[in-house]
This record gives sequence, C-alpha cells and structure tokens, in this order.
Amino acid sequence: LPPPPPRALPAPLARLDAWLNQVFGSRYNPAYQTGTLVVVLWIVLLLTGLWLLLYYRIGAPWDSVAGLTADPWLGNWVRGLHRYASDAAVVATLVHALRIFLQRRTWGPRTLAWISGLVLFSLVLVSGWTGFVMVWDSFGYWLAVEGARLIDLLPILSEPVRRGFVGDRPVASAFFFLNLFLHVAIPLGLGLVFWLHVSRLARPLLLPPRALGWGLVGALLLLAVAVPVAMAPEADPFRIPAAIPVDWFYAFWMPITAVLSPGASWALLLGLGSALLLVPRWTRPPTASRPAPSRVDTQLCTGCTQCSLDCPFEAITMVPRTDGRAELVARIDAARCVSCGICAGSCAPMGVGPPGRTGRDQLGEVRAAIAAGAVQDRLVAFACEHGAATVRPALESLGVTLIPVECVGNLHTSAIEFVVRAGARCAVALSCPPRDCWSREGPRWLVARIHAEREAELQPRVDRRRVRIAELPAFDAVSARALVAGLQQELARLEQPAAEPSIELENECEAPEDAEEVSR
Ligand code: HEM
Ligand code: SF4
Ligand code: SF4
Repeated sequence: LPPPPPRALPAPLARLDAWLNQVFGSRYNPAYQTGTLVVVLWIVLLLTGLWLLLYYRIGAPWDSVAGLTADPWLGNWVRGLHRYASDAAVVATLVHALRIFLQRRTWGPRTLAWISGLVLFSLVLVSGWTGFVMVWDSFGYWLAVEGARLIDLLPILSEPVRRGFVGDRPVASAFFFLNLFLHVAIPLGLGLVFWLHVSRLARPLLLPPRALGWGLVGALLLLAVAVPVAMAPEADPFRIPAAIPVDWFYAFWMPITAVLSPGASWALLLGLGSALLLVPRWTRPPTASRPAPSRVDTQLCTGCTQCSLDCPFEAITMVPRTDGRAELVARIDAARCVSCGICAGSCAPMGVGPPGRTGRDQLGEVRAAIAAGAVQDRLVAFACEHGAATVRPALESLGVTLIPVECVGNLHTSAIEFVVRAGARCAVALSCPPRDCWSREGPRWLVARIHAEREAELQPRVDRRRVRIAELPAFDAVSARALVAGLQQELARLEQPAAEPSIELENECEAPEDAEEVSR
C-alpha cells in the first residue's frame, strides 16, 4: 500500500508543542486541550451570563450595564470574566480548528465533526455580536449599524433595519428584546450542536484535567480584576467618538466589510464559508492513497468483542454469527471507520485491522527486521507515524532500529514479544502525548494491553524489563536524544553482572498508577 500522507503538525508548530510540554508537562499542555478548554469557557459564560442577566434592563441597556460595571464587588469582575472568557473562546476554537486541519482530521467519517464545528464557531461569533450590541455603547452601536448594513441586503424585512438606528426616534425595545433572546438562546443551542459535534466519537473527552480547567478560570479571573472592563460612552447616532474601544476578537471582520459594499461582503462571506465547508472534500487524499477501512477476517474472529470496545469511533458492532463457530462476529461500519488501526492491536487472534496493517502484517515487518539483523542486541523503537517517526534520522543515528506504526495503539503485543524474544536489548513504543493522539485513544489502549491485562495483553512470559512505553511528540529530536541516552543508561545497568539484582528490579517497566488516567 502507498504510505499515508503526512498528518503531523508542521515542524515549527510541533516544536512549539514540545516547548509547551516542557513548561506545562504534556498532560497539561493547553495546545492539546483546546476543544475541552472551549467547553470550560462555555460553562463559565453560562454561569457569569446568568448573573449578568439579573441586572440587565431592556428599557435602559447602557445604564444597567454601567451600574453593574461600577460595582467592584459583584459586578465589574463578573462582567470582566464574561468578556475575557468570550475572547478566549474565539482563540481556543480557532487553535482547535487549525490543529485539526493541519493534522488532516477533517475528512471521511470526521466530516460531521468538521461541519458542526464550523456551525459552532459561527454561533460563537453571532452570540458575541449580540452580547456587545446589548451593552449599547459606542462599540455596540458600531456593530449594530454594520450588521444592519449587511442584513438589509437580504430580502427578509420590509423596512431597512438600519433606519432604526439613525436617531430620529428611540431604538425599539423589541430590538433589545430580540437581541437578548438570541444572546441567551444561541449559547443554549450550542449545547445541541456540540452533542452532534462529538456524536461519532466513543467516550469523547469533554473536559480538560481539572488543574488546567481551574487554572484557566483563575487566570481569566485575575485578568478581570487586574484589567477591569471599562464602560465606553453610550451609543449616540449624532456623535462619532474620537476612539471606539473595539474588541477585535469579535470585530475582526469589520474593517473589511466597512470598505466593501454589502453585496461584496456577502460574496466574500459565502465564498469563505463554502471553502471551509468543502474542507472535508479537498483535504481527502486521492482514492489511490486513501487508507482503506478496517476488515474482519471472520475465520479468525472469535467474537470476543474487544475490538468493538476499543474502537474510538464506534465503527465496530458485534452481530450474531450463523456458522456455529461462535455466538458473535465483529462487523465494521466502513462509513464510520477512519482507518486508525486501533482494532488491529485489540485482536488477540489478529483477525481485524485495515488491509496491510493487521497484527499479522506487523509480525511480517518484525520478522523482516530480525532477518536483516536489525533486532538482536539493538534498541528497537515502534514509532508512531504521526509523531516519533518524524525524528527517524535522529533515532537511527543513535543506533535505534525504527519500525513505524500508524499509531502505537495499532501495535499488537505479539510484535513486542517477537522483538524481545529475538534478543533486542529493549522494545520501546514511542507514542504521541495521549491527548494529541490522531487516533484519539492509541496510547491509552497500548498502556492497558501492556500493564492492565486487557484482552490481547502482553504475555507474562515476556521479560518486562526490556519493554518500555515513552512519549515522544513529532519533530522533538532533543527529547528523542535524551530519551535514548536515558534508556541506554538503564539498559547498561540492567546488563551489568548479576551481582547487583536490586538494580534489575528498579529497571522493570512499571505500570502507571492509573492506566485509565494516562489517556487524559
Ligand atoms: C465551540 C467550539 C468547539 C468545541 C467546544 C469543540 C470541542 C471538541 C471536543 C471536546 C472534541 C472531542 C475531542 C475528543 O474526545 O477526541 C472535538 C472534536 C473535533 N472537533 Fe471540535 N470543538 C469546537 C469547534 C470546532 C471547530 C470550529 C472545528 C473545525 C471546523 C472542529 C473540529 C473538530 C473535529 C474534526 C473533531 C473530531 C476529531 C477526531 O475525530 O479526531 N471543532 N471538538
Ligand atoms: S477483537 Fe478480533 S476476535 Fe475479538 S471480536 Fe474483534 S475481530 Fe473478533
Ligand atoms: S480502524 Fe478499527 S478501530 Fe479504527 S475506526 Fe476503523 S474499525 Fe475503528
């Protein structure tokens, strides 16, 4: 089969990840948690929004917000938290979408998540627009007029909306009511679209590790207290203020639409929207190089159900078997299968996996490496193609034999066993940080198979002192060298004469305290 297209982040961004890993540790690296951080921000927005709602008056919008802003105890910081959380939501959503795009997790069964993600982002922006208009200060007025200019091109209302803001009469309270209604309804509707967004994922991770979530809330709170949100002058159609305090996170589009006609603005919006909606189509690899969905070899399947439990995309169901060999047999739903290959590692009899990437195929590769003399007395690394395999030259220059796998979650434990029994000094699986796994749950299942006696587990007869799992993100050659140096030292101690047994025990590959936790 042709090799899959590169799906790692571009090197400079991957290096930024590596740096963030050093600062936060990979478990708390915010770049890996952008989706779940938006969920935290959404919860903060709902809670602070409920509080602000108690004080908002449709009949006196600016006065009510000004009163709240003047209250340093339960007004200003709540408003500041609401504002900064909404700004952070835009940033986090954009980073989340950009990472997904650059990792090419955009096409095939992921199309629904991509398109619903775009709807989510649009709703975030519209919701922000209504929020700023609600304040009815100079910025809110500018947003309202610019928005009305665009809406007036649509043939929906008999009277132009813009006419309501020219100042010949007070702005209708129905406008503020509608605005308030949308500002409450859209964030609640977001919940429904979000459900659709993650509906094709098994066990979606909705929240970041607690410390990271609270850390973000704490940082925003500090910002809200340290840099209090100020009150701009009230909207006044007859006075153009010298400076309007603009929130560019929600107004980034205004300098562009301001110089374009409404027609050209809509054309631009529709063009951009269509290009984004079509991303799943134009990022899909050509048929010849598109990874094929997984297949079940019904002769080998014993109906154990493990693959259907492990599939991160709910693409495997167990159906009744009619030939009397077992009660059940696995069936792949090709429309849901992203060809991640996790099921190949789940199946003890090696009866499932994408063509060319089953457990049997892995054993074939290992046998070839053994025959080529690249295993005995060597350090053998099974490296994720999305991550560690990108530093292949660095690893090989240190004498490591590298066997690439699509994801370490694909790795069949028999391949590890073969390598160890063929005399390798050590078999190390180099995984991506769990929360950045292209296949979502690869490192999690590998750890469980090696340490938690999960089905398709590493057999007790395998010398575990010669088995390791290590995290190594893409393009992180510095960590790769440090990792190999550390391993070499450990192995040297292990291989010292038997007079020092205590060292051997220390070197044994230990299970993480909580194998489940490793996946977060
Ligand atoms: C309010 C905004 C958003 C939130 C709260 C959000 C949150 C999430 C979460 C929690 C996941 C599941 C992660 C997992 O368990 O693996 C996810 C997955 C995903 N998101 Fe978003 N997201 C948002 C916007 C977007 C946008 C704007 C896009 C792209 C246009 C996008 C594309 C995706 C895709 C494609 C996946 C599936 C990844 C996979 O199958 O491996 N999301 N999102
Ligand atoms: S893991 Fe293998 S044996 Fe078990 S149900 Fe899946 S295909 Fe069948
Ligand atoms: S390759 Fe296997 S584990 Fe991955 S999505 Fe397809 S059926 Fe599920």
